[in-house]
Amino acid sequence: MARIIAIGSGMDEAINAASVILALGRPVAIPTETVYGLAADATNPAAITSIYQTKGRPRFNPLICHMANLEMAEQHADFDPLSRRLAEHFWPGPLTLVLPLKPESDIHPLATAGLDSVGIRVPVGFTGDLIRHFGRPLAAPSANSSGKISPTTAAHVDDDLGGKIDLVIDGGACEVGVESTILKIEDGQIRLLRPGGVSVEAIEAFAGMAVERPKVAGTAIIEAPGMLASHYAPNATVRLNVTSVAKEEALVAFGATPISGEADAVMVLNLSPAGDLAEAAANLFDYLKRADASGAQGIAVVTIPDHGLGEAINDRLVRAAAPRDAEGNSA
Ligand code: TXA
Ligand code: MG
Repeated sequence: MARIIAIGSGMDEAINAASVILALGRPVAIPTETVYGLAADATNPAAITSIYQTKGRPRFNPLICHMANLEMAEQHADFDPLSRRLAEHFWPGPLTLVLPLKPESDIHPLATAGLDSVGIRVPVGFTGDLIRHFGRPLAAPSANSSGKISPTTAAHVDDDLGGKIDLVIDGGACEVGVESTILKIEDGQIRLLRPGGVSVEAIEAFAGMAVERPKVAGTAIIEAPGMLASHYAPNATVRLNVTSVAKEEALVAFGATPISGEADAVMVLNLSPAGDLAEAAANLFDYLKRADASGAQGIAVVTIPDHGLGEAINDRLVRAAAPRDAEGNSA
């Protein structure tokens, strides 16, 4: 079973224990402001392979490489002026930039899936401190079995992967609750590869220009190869934009509008009674897990506004509701 060390019990103990496991080429579950990550040394092929084995991920996708700061990131990637401005403004924070990989970078091709680009982000808090201490970038996807809902607490990680990893660092519940926004700058244009913890509106306001969303649905999936259509899949079937709850369903609500059949729902969880999208994002994965664990046959989710963090919430909900194969696996 995994050892769990709470950061509250001493930052040094957590950093030292995590560094020992990382130096052995093994993965450690770490808290970030978005979701818990399954982190390993991005320069060590055996360590990266163990991330895939632990998650049961069927194939190698490019992983986000986490850095301590912009200075470290610049050792591995070339920054155009706009990417640098975005990094200076939004890092540390829930923003990933896809950038040209420097030929001299020692990030292993298994972490970038052999691409000549690399996805980089500088996380807030513990993980940034850990990377500074460890001295090398950490590749880290979310710390969950492939296709399942991302973890936002140490208990989520332990329930899912506790039998397979040595150590979980417990930093409490993740503040943002959805993964980072992924951007790629091309010809001076900002392209959105994945909506996430920084809203498109915030990026546009800062950059003073429009962010290009994928023109054809699914384009971003090809562009950002790790993004399978069905993902974040609970066991129960997920129904979106509901106006009423069916029998045997759990309800995931938002705001104050009453929903017909609510009183008979297996369980009612409100992402944010006040209608706050940041609060809803922080609660999303935990509530989907709880609704799933209630034994309900279905999870009915009301319409979530599609602006601000709602865009990332709706992206994850569409994936959670996507069709699966006969065994119930992500397609
Ligand atoms: O919030 C987050 O970003 C979390 C936490 C743990 O930091 N991490 C995360 O990492 O979601 P990961 O490795 O699962 O994200 C991988 C996704 C890929 O599926 C792909 O969409 C995109 O990042 N990506 C990474 N490198 C890329 C590249 N070179 N080109 C295009 N997309 C890339
Ligand atoms: Mg994930």
